[in-house]
Amino acid sequence: MNQNTTQRLSPESIARHKKQTPLVCLTAYSKPVAEYLDRHVDLLLVGDSLGMVLYGFESTRDVTVEMMINHGRAVMRGSTHACVIIDLPFGSYEDSPAEALETARRVIKETGASGVKLEGGAEMAGTVKTLTGHNIPVLGHIGLLPQHSVDKNGFRIQGRTADDHRRIIDDARALEKAGAFAIVIEGTVEDTAREASNAVAIPTIGIGASPECDGQILVTDDLLGLFSGFRPKFVKPYGDLKSRIEQAAMAYANDVQGRVFPGPEHVYQRDQT
Ligand code: KIV
Repeated sequence: MNQNTTQRLSPESIARHKKQTPLVCLTAYSKPVAEYLDRHVDLLLVGDSLGMVLYGFESTRDVTVEMMINHGRAVMRGSTHACVIIDLPFGSYEDSPAEALETARRVIKETGASGVKLEGGAEMAGTVKTLTGHNIPVLGHIGLLPQHSVDKNGFRIQGRTADDHRRIIDDARALEKAGAFAIVIEGTVEDTAREASNAVAIPTIGIGASPECDGQILVTDDLLGLFSGFRPKFVKPYGDLKSRIEQAAMAYANDVQGRVFPGPEHVYQRDQT
C-alpha cells in the first residue's frame, strides 16, 4: 500500500499494481468501518456479501440496488484514500449490457464511487466492454461466484478439474480484453489462480485463491471475528470482536440491573440559581 498518497486511489493506479507489493483490499459497508480501514487499504469493496453478513439473508441474491447505493454512500463518506468499488447485485445487470449500463451509471452517479464489480467471466465480457466503453471502471469476479448459489452450501472451490482450470484462465483473459482494471478470483485452487494471474497484465485479487494473486481481499467481518457459525478455511481472523461485543453487553446488563449505570457522572441536573 502507498502510505504517502493523499488523493483517492484510482482504478487506473490499481491496474498498474501488477507484480508489485500485494494489493490490500477489504469489504466495508458503513461509514465508521470505512473510516477505520481507509488508510490501511488500497481498495474498499462495498460487497453484496452485506446481504448475508449484515442482513442475515441466505444468499447474496436478495440484495437490491438501493441497498448497495445506501451502503456505498456511507462508505464514500467514511473514506478519502481507498479506491471504492461497489458490487452490482444479482438481477440488476445480467440480462443485457444495456441493463448493466443503466444500473452501473445509477450506482456511480448516486454514490460517487470509482467503479463497479460484477460476477462472471467470458460470458460477461460483452457487458464489461460496454461499461468500460462508457468510462465505467469494472472490477471482474471469477472462480466461485456467490450470486450463482441460493445458499452457502452451493459455494464450491473452483479449478479442480482440467476443464474448470482452463475455463477460469480463459475468463481472466476475456475480462482483461474487455477492459476490466483488475479481477477478483474467489474460492479457486492455487494452480489455477497462479496461471490466471500470469495470463493477464492486470492485477488479480484473491479471496480463498492462494498467495499467487496480486492482492488479497477478505470480508472485514471475518477479519474481525464478527462472523457467527461457519468459518471458511481461507479466513484468518485478526480479531475477536464477537466476544468483545458480548462481554460489553454483559457488563452493561450487569451495571443496569445492579443500578451501577447510569452513575452520577452520566446524569443531568437542573441549574442551581
Ligand atoms: O461481496 C463481496 O464481499 C465480495 C468479496 C467476497 C470479493 O464479492
